[in-house]
Amino acid sequence: MRLADRVAIVTGAASGIGRAIALGLAREGAAVAILDLDERGAGETARAIEKAGGQAHAYRADITHKTEVDTTVAAVVARWRTVHILVNNAGWDQPMPFVQTSEEFWDKVLAINLKGPIVCTRAVLEPMIAQRSGKIISIASDAGRVGSTGEAVYSAAKGGVIAFTKTIAREVARHRINVNCICPGPSDTPLFRNEFAAVNPKLAEGLTRAIPWGRLGLPEDIAPAVVFLASDDADYITGQTLSVSGGLTMV
Ligand SMILES: NC(=O)c1ccc[n+]([C@@H]2O[C@H](COP(=O)([O-])OP(=O)(O)OC[C@H]3O[C@@H](n4cnc5c(N)ncnc54)[C@H](O)[C@@H]3O)[C@@H](O)[C@H]2O)c1
Repeated sequence: MRLADRVAIVTGAASGIGRAIALGLAREGAAVAILDLDERGAGETARAIEKAGGQAHAYRADITHKTEVDTTVAAVVARWRTVHILVNNAGWDQPMPFVQTSEEFWDKVLAINLKGPIVCTRAVLEPMIAQRSGKIISIASDAGRVGSTGEAVYSAAKGGVIAFTKTIAREVARHRINVNCICPGPSDTPLFRNEFAAVNPKLAEGLTRAIPWGRLGLPEDIAPAVVFLASDDADYITGQTLSVSGGLTMV
């Protein structure tokens, strides 16, 4: 097992891609803290991990609130002594033309998709620096690399996550902490089904048609790339952005 004795925090792991990542990390031996606003879904993920023989615990927290995140990270460290892996996965969007969006909407999108990863990264860096090792993997999006019609502010936030990743990677390399991004393309999750396919089926069909591999991504397509970046096999990889999107984006 590649992650035996490691402790991981996965945000947004009550659902979709985050749940698959949490299960994937646990399968490789990591103890996984499921951090999500959705307490019920987080509990389901934790139980699925325990049922498969792994270790997990669900924590209800909002990644946009620094005190909630700091308290949760302290609780994880109290339970399992430290934290080795952070996966910034929680995210949200509602596609619509930029001219129809409100200031309130911009604030929400930026808070969840950009401030949240910043808050969580800040919270884990001290234990990681103290132990001179750590892996931080943020789930950005191909929207942050090449743009995505109907997702202007979300794309800005995800592009911000990519730039933030590169800068933190430079700052903490001397502490032997790796910081990387994974960019999914359109993927079959509750977020995509509820906010895209249900609201604008034509947009969802167009996105699917544009994928060279010919189908939407699945959470299980994304998780193995995260497990790799969380493992010792990726010790010399930092500041990188990897698309896992069936060839949608080639940059
Ligand atoms: N599904 C796609 O097509 C797609 C494409 C590219 C990138 N992504 C990214 O992948 C990640 C996972 O998305 P998904 O499709 O699995 O979505 P999802 O809606 O299925 O899961 C997201 C989870 O994040 C949680 N969450 C939202 N706001 C939160 C907050 N403030 N604090 C704590 N938890 C919060 C939700 O409760 C939910 O459990 C996101 O960052 C998303 O932007 C998804």
